[in-house]
Amino acid sequence: MHPQFAAATEARGTPIWFVHAGNADEVLQAFGDRERAFAAAAGFEAKPGKLLLLPKLDGGLAGVLFGIEKPGDLIDLFRPGQLVNTLPAGIYRFANAPHDARLAALAFAIGAYKFTRYRKGKPSKVRLNVPDGVDGEDLSRIAEGVALARDLINTPSNDMGPDELEAAARTLGDAHGAKVEVTSGEKLAKDFPLIHAVGMGSPRAPRLIDITWGNDTDPKVTLVGKGVCFDTGGLDIKPSSGMLNMKKDMGGAATSLGLAHMIMSRKLKVRLRVLIPAVENSTSGTSFRPRDIFTSRKGITVEIGNTDAEGRLVLADALSLADEEKPDFIVNFATLTGAARVALGPDLPAMFTDDDALAADVAKAGLAENDPVWRLPLWMPYEALLDSKVSDTNNVSTGGLGGAITAALFLKKFVTAPSWMHFDIFAWTASSKPGRPEGGECQTARALYALLSERYS
Ligand code: BES
Ligand code: MN
Ligand code: ZN
Repeated sequence: MHPQFAAATEARGTPIWFVHAGNADEVLQAFGDRERAFAAAAGFEAKPGKLLLLPKLDGGLAGVLFGIEKPGDLIDLFRPGQLVNTLPAGIYRFANAPHDARLAALAFAIGAYKFTRYRKGKPSKVRLNVPDGVDGEDLSRIAEGVALARDLINTPSNDMGPDELEAAARTLGDAHGAKVEVTSGEKLAKDFPLIHAVGMGSPRAPRLIDITWGNDTDPKVTLVGKGVCFDTGGLDIKPSSGMLNMKKDMGGAATSLGLAHMIMSRKLKVRLRVLIPAVENSTSGTSFRPRDIFTSRKGITVEIGNTDAEGRLVLADALSLADEEKPDFIVNFATLTGAARVALGPDLPAMFTDDDALAADVAKAGLAENDPVWRLPLWMPYEALLDSKVSDTNNVSTGGLGGAITAALFLKKFVTAPSWMHFDIFAWTASSKPGRPEGGECQTARALYALLSERYS
């Protein structure tokens, strides 16, 4: 179980009462006169995020009042996660139901996350008795997957290059009895020319990480994650403001590993494959250049219009490999474009697929899990914007408008599987919110996990 969750054998814990404008009177009625008088004297208001500790006569803690949104208002299902960082140490329980007890408990677990690799933080000593009817083991594996992804994203690039990303993949694979194979060097140059091209400017060697797990006869689910361990932009170098946060450019890889942890730990009935092209997009005398032309793994010739559009290049070869065994479902995660952020902002990843039913299912799961996604179109008329005069395709579009869509259309050239889905994610939380501490974020994995759990349990 996650450290934020108390075992069933432990104390029942201090009650937390969730109150809002609609139920505050009713909840307070159930208390004694003394508690009501104290709440009034302390000026407690039943508004989202407000907290009141109710004292016992002996000086102990009788209970906690915590304000949440009233039904009908815009509800933050992770709001109760605020408590894990504000309550005094102890064991607690939900005395009445918040809007979603399962997500509230999950928000405790993922809200307590701290990145402690370089500066020790005090772990939260607030622990929760998992609410009745909620599967605490499942919440624990979700929280572990989220923490794994966040740790990988938060680790700066000097300690998270292709080598270290490979090591993390091996550690995860070993923990679950998966097979981990890595292609690098000459073989990478021959079999995955685009991954090699993007990585050849860095002394930290590019590679393709290939994890397989599960039973060959089960449905094949393949996750592909962009593993650009640092994105300088290459010779089309980014300005410093654009480069500042590019340690997170392996956020897609981190997300795929976090999701893989959830899937393998739950032992879903799938044959799982995780493909991670791990590279560093650097500037040097051996970097690939604007107007270079490479023949991709699939045989499509690609002219480089911009070396900063490197994510789609490394994904192209990885997606080609994924596609070769005709899996039932291919999903890729990538911090692919600034344009997706311009369109949808930081907290709403873009989802692309031609499978309408799948899109609807994932969107629904995303809302239910408080891991929302928004569909953007694979608008074929824009494909012509990727045309090159000298090769089969350019890696960037002319004009640059609709950049998230044209990037997705570039990826689509390398996939034939009918059930393919691409997420353009931000992988970052700029300022802390309940359940979402500042820093690396694992977006879309919980939505996918919910969908896969329903299909393949
Ligand atoms: N990793 C970036 C995209 C990115 C930037 C994601 C900032 C999240 C935040 C990607 O490799 C990139 O540089 N994309 C370019 C594409 C352009 C050159 C066509 C972009 O979005 O500007
Ligand atoms: Mn780039
Ligand atoms: Zn990038």
